[in-house]
Parts: sequence; C-alpha cells; structure tokens
Amino acid sequence: MNVGIIGSGGREHAICVSLKNSEKTNNIYCFPGNAGTSLIAKNINADLADFEALKKLIQKFNIDLVIIGPEKPLVDGLVDYLKKNSIKVFGPNKIASQLEGSKIFTKNLCKKYNIPTAKFGVFDNITKSLSFLKQCKFPIVVKADGLAAGKGVYICETFERSTNAVQEIFNGKFGEAEEVLIEEFLEGEEMSFFVISDGKSFRKFGSAQDHKRVLEGDKGKNTGGMGAYSPSRLENELLDQKIIEKIIKPTLKGLKDLKTNYVGFLYAGLMIIKGEPFLIEYNVRMGDPECQTILPRLKTDFLKVINTCVDNNLNSINLEWNEEKSICIVLCSKGYPDEYENGIEIEKLNEIKLEKNNYIFHAGTKIKNSKVYSNGGRVLNFVMKSKNLKESRNNLIKVIENLNWKNGYFRKDIGFKVIKK
Ligand code: AMP
Ligand code: GLY
Repeated sequence: MNVGIIGSGGREHAICVSLKNSEKTNNIYCFPGNAGTSLIAKNINADLADFEALKKLIQKFNIDLVIIGPEKPLVDGLVDYLKKNSIKVFGPNKIASQLEGSKIFTKNLCKKYNIPTAKFGVFDNITKSLSFLKQCKFPIVVKADGLAAGKGVYICETFERSTNAVQEIFNGKFGEAEEVLIEEFLEGEEMSFFVISDGKSFRKFGSAQDHKRVLEGDKGKNTGGMGAYSPSRLENELLDQKIIEKIIKPTLKGLKDLKTNYVGFLYAGLMIIKGEPFLIEYNVRMGDPECQTILPRLKTDFLKVINTCVDNNLNSINLEWNEEKSICIVLCSKGYPDEYENGIEIEKLNEIKLEKNNYIFHAGTKIKNSKVYSNGGRVLNFVMKSKNLKESRNNLIKVIENLNWKNGYFRKDIGFKVIKK
C-alpha cells in the first residue's frame, strides 16, 4: 500500500518509521515531513490548509491510505473532505474532532454524561467572568475555547492574574472569543491515556506521562512536551477500567447520540487524584512526544492496525505490546518555547551510531545538501526502549551530550517521578 502522512513533527516521524517496518507498506509520502522522514519516505511540500491541493497530490501519488497526525487539519474537517472524495483516511471527522477543537463542547458533554472533570462555568463577557472570579478560591484555571497550540490555558494564582487572562482571551489573543471557560484547579498527577477506535469498538493504545514544562522539576513555561515515558507509572488494571467505564465509554456514547462516531486515536489528558481519573482535556490524535514512546512498544504490524481500523474491523485483530518501557528526551532550540533561532546546523548528527532499541525521531528539522538544520522549537527526539528507565535515560543523555549541539537544550530529569536517584 502507498501511505500518506499529514504532519511534520516527531510524532509523524515515529509513525513513518512504524509504517516502514510494516509488511504491506509500499511507498510513504509525508506532507510535508522533516529531515528524518525524508530519509525513509518522500516529503511533499504542501499547504495543509488547502484541501483541494492536498487531494490532488494524494491522487497523483496513488496514495491508498492517509494518516493525519496533528489536530488542526482534523478540526478543520480534512477527514470529511477526503472521504467525500473517496480517499481512505485515518482520523476523526469534524464533529468528533470538536472534542479537541472546543473545550466547551467537551465540558458540556462531560456534564451531560456525568464524566468526571473539574467543576466549571462558561461566561460570555468580561463583566460576568470577573464577578464570578471574585467569589472563587485560587488557584483557578481560565481557558480559551478553541485550538490555541497549547497556549490558551492559564493557571491563575490570584484574582489579578485571572482578570488578565479573561481580558486577553476576550481581546482576541487566540482568535475571536465568544465565551471563556473557567474551571476548578485539580491537584493530582497527570497521565496521558490513549485509545484507538474504529467507530464500532475501541482498544486501549497505551499510556504515558508527558513533561510539559520547559525546566527541570516540572517548572517554567508550558511547552508542547519536553519528554515522556511509557507506560505511565500510574497505570494499573483497576485504573484502566475506571478510565474506560467513566470517561471513554460515555464519551463515545455521547458522539453516537450526536449521530456520529469516532475513528482514530483518542488521547485523554487525565488528572489522577487518589486513584480516581478526572478528564482535563481530549486530544483527537496521538500525543507528541507520547507517540514516540508508545509506537516503538507496539509489536503488532502498525499498518495492519490502522487499516483494520479504517475498515471498521478492529475487533478482528489483537494488539500486542512489548514488555519493555520506553523513554523520550526532546532536544529543543535554546529559547523555546519563547524566541529561538532556526536554520542552525546539527553537525554531528550523522556520526551517531544508534544501539538496538534506540531511536532518533526528527521534529523541527530540514535537510539541505545532506546537512541537517534546525527548523522549529522542538528539534529531535531521543528514544530508548529497555527494561530499566534509568539506564535508558543515562544512555540517551550520553548520546545527546556526544551530539554536542551548541544551540540545543534538554531536560535531564524526564521520568523523575518514576526513576529513583
Ligand atoms: P490543556 O491544554 O487543557 O491540557 O491544559 C494544559 C495543561 O494545563 C494541562 O496539561 C495541565 O497541566 C494544566 N491544566 C489544565 N486544566 C487544569 C485543571 N483544571 N487543573 C489543574 N491543571 C490543569
Ligand atoms: N504532549 C502533549 C500533546 O501532544 O498535546
């Protein structure tokens, strides 16, 4: 089969590598991909917002199946568009993608189906928001409704901070805002929980713990993710069962009641409090960098999994997983998540000899005359799978230190809650 991947991050490179190892994969095309994908697939420059141009390219290259990595094209309805044009595609449709596209849609669904989540209120102007905030206990969380590339969430310690957040949101910092979401601050431990769904049935697709903050000790600004390990240290059968019964099943039922269904990866961002799961948010895709830790652990042929899912036949296969744990350290550009420079050569990348069960997935990179340059905030993902997370982490740190990329920054403490000193 010829397969197309939409996206250009570490998640998409990991998907590309898994597909490459699949028996039935013929050619892989990445729209637009990165330096890493260009070594095993064909990168095609494309504007992901121009659906018609994308469709033409997909047809031109005789692509049999399209896998969509990031949320934006999903929320914008690329799945619906491609399906209408008889192109086989993996990912949720536009209505189902509201689970990530609108935080208020998800909160209302939680309320209707009794899904455990932080208590919340929705307000349609600044005055009402502020009079509510005056009576609140702090910290409190203020959120913009739509996609905001991870930036529309304010954890506010004081009334002043929350006032500022509400004003920024209504003043259009994240696009025109009709409403704001204000919710209770939940204190617990976060977990990323994944399922794959074919519209009729679903399976768990691993768990992971992401480190979103830029500095060691989970301090500093929020980022897309500085590293992760899988499975989450919180994972156990009882918790899985609670997540599935209290959160996943009612959500899928809610979509069914809206006369739609869910095909694709569903990522539940959870807060676990005293063994009980609360939904913080949904994402309608794999996590990045969680995907880079989960896919190397999958033993079942990846293309077969995706294909069976698109054919609504997930029940017909078994998902098998490697017993080993995996960990990912993200090397980013100095200055990320604020200002950083692009186009800086990563000189020694080609000299790195990877051991077995060791992977480098590219994220913000581009290639020119066989040289690799940085091209984004998160640049490279170093992943290792083994029985011992501490050994893996030490090994990855050594690899990154040997690379000695002067413009790079990474956290040495990924997995600190599970790796003892
Ligand atoms: P979100 O984009 O909704 O996942 O929010 C980004 C991050 O903000 C989450 O990963 C949490 O760390 C934090 N967060 C969001 N909502 C809450 C909440 N109600 N209580 C505590 N932390 C939260
Ligand atoms: N790692 C967080 C995310 O993918 O949204």
